[in-house]
Amino acid sequence: MEKLAIDGGKPVRKNLLPYGHQWVDEADIQAVVEVLRSDWLTTGPKVAEFERAFADFVGAKEAVAVNNGTAALHTAMYVVGVGPGDEVIVPPMTFASSANCIVFQGGTPVFADVDPGTLLIDPAQVEAKITPRTKAIIAVDYTGQPCDYDALRTIADRHKLLLVADASHALGGSYKGRPVGALADLSAFSFHPVKPITTGEGGMITTDDPGLAQRMRVFRNHGITTDHRQREQQGSWFYEMVDLGYNYRLTDLQCALGISQLHKLSEWVKRRQEIAQRYDEAFAGIPAVEPLEMRNDVSHAYHLYMIRLDLAQLRVTRAKVFSALRAEGIGVNVHYIPVHLHLFYRERFGTGPGLCPVAETAYERLITLPLFAVMRDQDVEDVIEAVRKVIEVYQL
Ligand SMILES: Cc1ncc(COP(=O)(O)O)c(C=O)c1O
Repeated sequence: MEKLAIDGGKPVRKNLLPYGHQWVDEADIQAVVEVLRSDWLTTGPKVAEFERAFADFVGAKEAVAVNNGTAALHTAMYVVGVGPGDEVIVPPMTFASSANCIVFQGGTPVFADVDPGTLLIDPAQVEAKITPRTKAIIAVDYTGQPCDYDALRTIADRHKLLLVADASHALGGSYKGRPVGALADLSAFSFHPVKPITTGEGGMITTDDPGLAQRMRVFRNHGITTDHRQREQQGSWFYEMVDLGYNYRLTDLQCALGISQLHKLSEWVKRRQEIAQRYDEAFAGIPAVEPLEMRNDVSHAYHLYMIRLDLAQLRVTRAKVFSALRAEGIGVNVHYIPVHLHLFYRERFGTGPGLCPVAETAYERLITLPLFAVMRDQDVEDVIEAVRKVIEVYQL
């Protein structure tokens, strides 16, 4: 049996392979440089162009660009009308922003546990958490797999709730042939560098409701009804602040990068799916390694590839497997510490262990493997080799 790098053996790779990485090419760079030479660095023509291209891509009527995914979620909670006393249902197996956006508006996040196979929000748990104070449901397309939107839509309609998708992971995916971004009343996206496309930092909200889109454009601009370029075009200095908003604007530099990245998204999603399939095949032969389940009615965008360790078959903890894989040069990660276990939520909302047992148990076993479109075949094989090697040494 080969000696592990963590015990002084030779690592599978010398340089650490990250779990995610952007792909920026010459066309992207040129697109940004062109904007730098133009008159508009922000609030210019590239914003509307990116919004249109994005809305068309996901098949939504409207897209509203903002400066990160968290701002996108906050903006969504604003137009949903969440305020003090309101509850919003959200899964715990996600990044903190999915719940923080509710708290920004003074609302209360109510955590609904996830399905044990997919770790996506469980519609039955959602139904069980609805009260007269519930205002909306946030479905998180965790890892890039769309949630069960038909089931969630039925529940939302029955209780007159708005359905919001945190689709930060899932751009390029689809559910029953319908693209992510057109599955909920409002869908929020992130363009952080590890996400399906990047603008450095950036976000978007899609909707079919032009009234909501208009209110979101006001909210991202301090609550002011016209933007700088509109006033310039009208030759007017007058503006009115009609509500308390934020500066959540995305620059033209970033929008130009986003437009250029969007052209490549479909190819990138295919590449991610190809890598995921190679992982699935390789891990099918390792009993202590269990990939997440995939529903058969979705196209998975594979932002993340997750394995679950069967700890009963191993003589070490997840932490040890994690460190051993890092020592082999594989930049593994863990997504996520369930949000209701974070100190802030425990102190502010009295959440804690036992509230969402499925998410809590899953969390103990999860490891995220590297997956990004620009990964080479050899990188993928290195990951597989390292997982095989580490599991072989540690299995009972
Ligand atoms: C599920 C999810 N929601 C929201 C966000 C927040 O996005 P951003 O980092 O662009 O604010 C992220 C990003 O990490 C995420 O993974």
